[in-house]
Amino acid sequence: MRLLIFCALITGSAGVLGGSTAPKFNKDIAPILYQNCAGCHRPGEVAPFSLLSYEDAAKRASLIATVTKARIMPPWKPELGYGDFKDARRLTDEQITLIQKWAASHAPEGDGPNPTPPTFTNGWQIGRPDKVVTMPAKFSVPADGPDQYRCFVIPMNLDKDVYISAVEFRPDDRRVVHHAIVFIDPRRQGRKLAEGSPDGSYSCFGGPGFAAGMLGGWAPGFTPAKPVEGYSTPLAKDTDLVVQIHYHPSGKPEQDQSSLGIFYGDAPTRGRTSVIISNRDIDIQPGDAHYLIKAALTTPSDAELLRITPHAHYLCKEMKIDAHLPDGSVKPLIWIKDWDFNWQNTYTYKNPIALPKGTRIEMEYTYDNSAANPRNPAHPPVHVTYGEQTTDEMGLAFLTFSLPTPAEALRFRQAMYLSKLALER
Ligand code: HEC
Repeated sequence: MRLLIFCALITGSAGVLGGSTAPKFNKDIAPILYQNCAGCHRPGEVAPFSLLSYEDAAKRASLIATVTKARIMPPWKPELGYGDFKDARRLTDEQITLIQKWAASHAPEGDGPNPTPPTFTNGWQIGRPDKVVTMPAKFSVPADGPDQYRCFVIPMNLDKDVYISAVEFRPDDRRVVHHAIVFIDPRRQGRKLAEGSPDGSYSCFGGPGFAAGMLGGWAPGFTPAKPVEGYSTPLAKDTDLVVQIHYHPSGKPEQDQSSLGIFYGDAPTRGRTSVIISNRDIDIQPGDAHYLIKAALTTPSDAELLRITPHAHYLCKEMKIDAHLPDGSVKPLIWIKDWDFNWQNTYTYKNPIALPKGTRIEMEYTYDNSAANPRNPAHPPVHVTYGEQTTDEMGLAFLTFSLPTPAEALRFRQAMYLSKLALER
């Protein structure tokens, strides 16, 4: 309705419908595409076609109008108003209307030369790393077939304990790398899982196959976090990293050998810790279109929430996490109405969210195990329980908190962990 009124206003003020007042590629549309789409829709990137030239965009004008209006593109899952996140990819209603009108007027190009497409750097985004570690061998991704989830063991070969201030994942073959998560493996459990594999990798889906902390992640369009003064993550000498990569076939055989840039830092003076809110009690009957799980955590001291990484598999539909403050107010942390395993991400708040001691964080996830769910991997639907495999489900979120000192972060983490154990009996 709001959209309709807005259209009426625009056409009203312009005085004429369509014709010379229609939006033009050069003036109106290219800036939107360059700003919001070109990060993925350019040669060599993850999207199936480029949207840099007039010809490329014009021949897909009506498809572009459809997917932007439905907010399928650009892919961005969190609902507006439920967490204010850095680097949010979200077209304004005005931009969506412009694209609608452009497509409806047969995608005019406009006068003069096409605007210059943006330039992108394919090098390291946050500076020169202190150390670069690379997947031990090239991994072959066939032209088609199912997506693959692969864990690669990356030995750090450290000769002493270190502090990591940042990691940047750099995809090698961007046409097939759909997302990556970097796990810390202090007990070298990944090596056992990869035993016998020539390229040091093993198949993994919901996680690395063991309980592990997360060091970072990557997805198309993701901006890696720069080192922040005072924060770092300790890494013991014999630690390996395990990188989980989700490969999506591109239509041609591809090979990938991605790298990690490691940035060292000093011992932390501020505290940062990730805790997991989760419910493993998942038991979904086939046909159940509305299966709900809940979980809750109470903060043991004042803390600031820096970022949130929700996670589930294919059957999950909706995710909602709220903070209930001791004064009775509620702060929404994230709401994803249409979860898509393919577009998982770590969401960093623009401004850290202050949560006083005694804040109750509540999670509610809904799953659809009916045949009507197009993302259901089983036809017909089957009984699904908790687990890491494609055919299992999970329901959790990593919450990264900031505390005044490392010691307080440790206490915070331990208290959260103990209260969770008490809840789970
Ligand atoms: C973060 C990366 C990314 C961004 C940003 C992005 N796209 Fe896409 N787009 C993709 C990928 C990947 C696909 C292939 C389908 C999929 O995997 O979901 C796709 C598919 C499409 C399709 C084909 C849909 C279909 O049903 O065949 C259109 C049209 C499209 N994008 C338009 C856009 C437009 C317009 C924008 C900007 C407003 C945009 N995309 C931004 C990654 C992106």
